[in-house]
Amino acid sequence: MMKENLRKLIICFMLAVGFLLISSSDAAVSENIWEKITAINKKGPYLGIVVPNSFEMSPLLQSPSFVPLKALPYLDFAGKRFRFGRVENESVIVVMTGLGMWNAGITTQLLVSLFNIKGILHFGIAGNANSELQIGDVTIPMYWAHTGLWNWQRFGDGSDDELALESNGDYTREIGYLKFSDFNTNTSVDNLLNRVWFQPEEVFRIDGIPEIRQHAFWIPVNDRYFSLAKNLEGLELGACANNTTCLPRRPKVIRVERGISSNIFVDNAAYREFLNSKFNATAIDMESAAVGLVCLQQRIPFITMRALSDLAGGGDSSMSNEANTFAPLAANNAVDVLVAFISLLNTRQW
Ligand SMILES: *[C@@H]1O[C@H](CO)[C@@H](O)[C@H](O)[C@H]1NC(C)=O
Ligand SMILES: *[C@@H]1O[C@H](CO)[C@@H](O)[C@H](O)[C@H]1NC(C)=O
Ligand SMILES: *[C@@H]1O[C@H](CO)[C@@H](O)[C@H](O)[C@H]1NC(C)=O
Ligand SMILES: *[C@@H]1O[C@H](CO)[C@@H](O)[C@H](O)[C@H]1NC(C)=O
Ligand SMILES: *[C@@H]1O[C@H](CO)[C@@H](O)[C@H](O)[C@H]1NC(C)=O
Repeated sequence: MMKENLRKLIICFMLAVGFLLISSSDAAVSENIWEKITAINKKGPYLGIVVPNSFEMSPLLQSPSFVPLKALPYLDFAGKRFRFGRVENESVIVVMTGLGMWNAGITTQLLVSLFNIKGILHFGIAGNANSELQIGDVTIPMYWAHTGLWNWQRFGDGSDDELALESNGDYTREIGYLKFSDFNTNTSVDNLLNRVWFQPEEVFRIDGIPEIRQHAFWIPVNDRYFSLAKNLEGLELGACANNTTCLPRRPKVIRVERGISSNIFVDNAAYREFLNSKFNATAIDMESAAVGLVCLQQRIPFITMRALSDLAGGGDSSMSNEANTFAPLAANNAVDVLVAFISLLNTRQW
């Protein structure tokens, strides 16, 4: 009996020591990492460059404009790689988020929480909902919204009926809705999916009272960045996927009114047309609004440059999606615009 108790005691002790060892080596940020972050921050502030995936990031890393920091080219933290270097002689930290709003949000938050960041430049490719523009064009929207936060109305209720929890201020009918039966091929038939109402995000400002929410739907990019971007509008961009396949006209850089994001890859003509007519959306992507929301909350200037790579389902139905052919060109064009923008920022000393 005595022996059994002793055995239990020893096991408990070993578990406790093991737990201590694990918790010290798994501390949120190790001492070694903190030292590196502190050293990096002393040489800041930096421009944060946030990009969704390696397909979009590679042309930047391979560009002669990007010069990695020799002493410490990157730091890995929390599953993300933060790359240090210079673009057009501006100190930058480049980070890849991964697909979608959640990845874009947490990665941007890590970037601005760990490092001394003066502004966020986000770039990549996007779907195009604006029939006046062409694949390969690089759009710079003035506003972004997340269009994936919904209140899904019960069947039978109409647009005059309050939404669930609307009176609490949790949900609103101000932004409007998507009604499924509007898209029936036989429009006299109702649809059990009824309507989804678009909702603004709850935002807790860095300088606000904690736990007191504000609401935000349209997130403006930084005014000064946006006006500076006007100077990019004459930039010459690539027009050909290869030696034989070129776009009908040379792509351009264009500032547009609006872009929208959600965790939805849109390859559907009806939804594309809805997004354009309801929100005046040009660029459709899966990250920009999440990056913008973090910057809004943290009061950090941001701008997004998104090259149109496909028609989000609006193209010729014989091609399921044009992304395959022109995506590499679009990714290169986005990098060209990013680099030109950094060069402008640098010469204007902003
Ligand atoms: C690059 O920036 C550094 C420091 O910001 C400055 O000392 C240097 O003169 C710049 N080089 C060029 C070529 O502009
Ligand atoms: C449309 O739906 C209504 C109601 O179910 C039906 O009476 C009508 O025949 C349908 N029209 C067509 C063209 O299918
Ligand atoms: C394009 O053409 C140039 C010259 O005609 C040639 O050197 C190059 O290899 C070609 N590139 C491709 C991708 O075919
Ligand atoms: C929609 O956006 C375009 C540019 O992106 C702008 O020229 C136009 O005025 C906007 N339309 C409306 C109705 O706001
Ligand atoms: C150029 O790209 C098109 C579209 O992807 C492809 O069909 C064609 O074979 C390519 N041509 C060359 C020379 O690589």
